[in-house]
Amino acid sequence: EKGTYEHYMLKEVDEQPAVMRRLVKEYTNEQGELVVDSTITERLNMSDRVYIVACGTSWHAGWVGKQLIEQLAGVPVEVHVASEFAYNMPLISEKPFFIFISQSGETADSRQVLVKVNELGYDSMTMTNVAGSTLSREAIHTMLLHAGPEIAVASTKAYTAQIATLAILAKAAGMASAKVEAEQFDLVHELGLVAAGMERLVGEKDMISSLVKEKLSETRNAFYIGRGLDYFVSMEAALKLKEISYIQAEGFAAGELKHGTIALIEEGTPVIGVITEEETGAHTRGNLKEVESRGASTLVVSMEGLEREGDGIVLPKVHSLLTPLVSVVPIQLIAYYASLQRGLDVDKPRNLAKSVTVE
Ligand code: M6R
Repeated sequence: EKGTYEHYMLKEVDEQPAVMRRLVKEYTNEQGELVVDSTITERLNMSDRVYIVACGTSWHAGWVGKQLIEQLAGVPVEVHVASEFAYNMPLISEKPFFIFISQSGETADSRQVLVKVNELGYDSMTMTNVAGSTLSREAIHTMLLHAGPEIAVASTKAYTAQIATLAILAKAAGMASAKVEAEQFDLVHELGLVAAGMERLVGEKDMISSLVKEKLSETRNAFYIGRGLDYFVSMEAALKLKEISYIQAEGFAAGELKHGTIALIEEGTPVIGVITEEETGAHTRGNLKEVESRGASTLVVSMEGLEREGDGIVLPKVHSLLTPLVSVVPIQLIAYYASLQRGLDVDKPRNLAKSVTVE
């Protein structure tokens, strides 16, 4: 039920801190230790390569999952768009482990790949919000997202639940293979900080709404740029904006902009920079300067400690592997207000259905 909310999307954005806390509860024991089905972590650790297969927002979460699994569990990961994988299968390693990420568990493109994976006899897992969904039934293992029903077409709380669940899986797998990186990562504590940070951000709606009025009200296009995890969030940011505000948007690796796309920058073109990494932040700022000098209207979303005067949105500090969980929140709200201010149907954008059950 929407309750007092005008739109499901806003309700679902607001639910994210609670989803983080629920996930911690669902995946910890009485001693407060993380617990993931040991057959899953064993299979993942036995594999020589993980293949993440998904579509849309779930695919974007998969990119963050790649970093988490590689850093914490030390297993190499490839991330694939399901519709491409189905007909252009890459060379598969000797001992692959497949992870299907799907909020609905019903996406036809992803299922198509799972059917092939099953035919080939490979090990698989579905990470989904819907217990008993097709992808959950047909994969060997399942991890649930515990996000509660997601009604708005634009995926929000499922994305953050996917990232948190991938972090839980990565940490548990790393612990099972005694990886120092996993042992030193206090995920339960860090997810608590994330939940508190998200709470602060969802309280900044009025500020974000006025930023959107100022920066995005007239425009027909927009760019999001970032590096590393901030690049993956930029891709998600662009999808969210396109999907519900119909502003043509692109999420870009900040360093790649100057290799062609910068030609699209005109007087007033909005370019939003996401900066949560110390190492690459200065470079992204350099890229923002480049576009500003060509007329772009820039907005910076930066993490506490890395902020500079004039940054539009400052994010609460969280662990460097979990930054997408907080940086995506204002980005979801930017899309929401851009849609609302244009008088569009936020929850049911044109041409889209909640789950895409055709190939
Ligand atoms: O249910 P799934 O996670 O498999 O759905 C995948 C995509 O269709 C979905 O994430 C889509 O991109 C969203 N509407 C984006 O907000």
